[in-house]
Amino acid sequence: MKILLVASGAREHAIADALARSRHHPEIVSVCTTKNPGLKKLSSELYVGEILDFSWVMEIAKKTKPDLAVVGPDDPIGAGLADLLEAAGIPTMAPKKSLARIESSKSFARDLLLKVAPDSLPKYRVFTSFEPKELNTFIEQELKGNYVVKFDALKGGKGVKVSGEHLMTIEEGLQYAKECIEVGGRVVIEEKLVGVEFSLLSFTSGTQVVDMPAIQDHKRAYAGDTGPNTGGMGTYSDVNHSLPFLEERDLARAGELNRITAKALLQECGEPFKGILYGGFIAVENGVKVIEYNARFGDPEALNVLPLLTSDLVDICMAITEEKLTPDLVTFAKKATVCKYLTPQSYPVSKDEKGALVTFPPVPADAHLFFGDIAEDDEGNLHLGGSRTAGIVGIGASIAEAERIAESYCSSVGGPVRHREDIGTEELIRMRCETMHSLRPR
Ligand code: AMP
Ligand code: GLY
Repeated sequence: MKILLVASGAREHAIADALARSRHHPEIVSVCTTKNPGLKKLSSELYVGEILDFSWVMEIAKKTKPDLAVVGPDDPIGAGLADLLEAAGIPTMAPKKSLARIESSKSFARDLLLKVAPDSLPKYRVFTSFEPKELNTFIEQELKGNYVVKFDALKGGKGVKVSGEHLMTIEEGLQYAKECIEVGGRVVIEEKLVGVEFSLLSFTSGTQVVDMPAIQDHKRAYAGDTGPNTGGMGTYSDVNHSLPFLEERDLARAGELNRITAKALLQECGEPFKGILYGGFIAVENGVKVIEYNARFGDPEALNVLPLLTSDLVDICMAITEEKLTPDLVTFAKKATVCKYLTPQSYPVSKDEKGALVTFPPVPADAHLFFGDIAEDDEGNLHLGGSRTAGIVGIGASIAEAERIAESYCSSVGGPVRHREDIGTEELIRMRCETMHSLRPR
């Protein structure tokens, strides 16, 4: 069988790696933004170009006639690539454009959840015109000055600004809200939630929803959760598929919210969501709230969970497209994972190291290396791009063991790269648990 994989980096390297382990031994045709060395190795054909140029992507799809398509990144999903692939008769593991609004429109996502799970939401309002007085009253009086301003479309994870972190005065908040309205036609303003964030991704086909292990991402650029937001600097998951700071009912509620959301999407859009529903949650004082929904695998979250998948990803994808997904098709090893992203030293502030050489020693058996924004030249040398370079995943019998494996490999990579040494360490995890204890004293 043949699978078309639309890709941009390490997430799709991890997807290709899991597809390649399938008993179906699929031929993988990758369409990617760079000549990714990981995808190159795993694919029978690799096309490099602009994945938002749908006429080009569809030309390749029509020429190669895949039995299945998997679309990894948010942009082509949000712009409706699944609609075109399905229309061409190719079963596709990615939601159609209308369903992908759960990620591509913050206001759609909030308004949908308001109908079915209002207690999962922070206080919020959608503004479509810039009325400084009204905005000011909402922020100061209803939100008591603790607020978040969200651009209403995809912006590579950088459209959200939080008071006290990115917005230091109400004036700055109003200015950003104005910008959002001018560019996107609307803005979401909401209450700033206090708690500990986690992700729960589910394989989804309409109302059939099967969860993966829970994961914690680290969006800030530098150790101690400081610096600007990034696409994600690293992630970890635990042996029991929960997280050390969560109570059983938190994870159960997150799973329930993914089910409620899948069902609401079916009702709202009149067709099933086929793909990955990614719930971004925050455990707060009195339960679990939704920060956002994504319509795809997370990057790096995919790097944690896919190496743990002990069942067959091709079977899962086929079952999703045929609406025959069942829980027994999805099994994960009971192991812990820690993923640390190597990035160029100046990421995400500038791209000074772009083009520099980077060298990777052999990868030990208990680690994985997934290539991101990196390009291979004709001599086989690897050069840094401007974005995240490679995700290193350690797998162990505990988070601590997985962390040591990932850390040891990261520090052996040559070139002007850095990573967050604190991700997955006992100290950082203790801090997360302490934050939860302080919010929920016994
Ligand atoms: P999003 O793109 O919606 O995931 O937002 C990016 C980041 O902004 C999240 O991971 C949170 O850290 C933060 N954020 C978003 N919404 C809120 C909120 N209501 N309260 C606190 N932080 C938030
Ligand atoms: N890790 C965050 C994301 O994929 O959106």
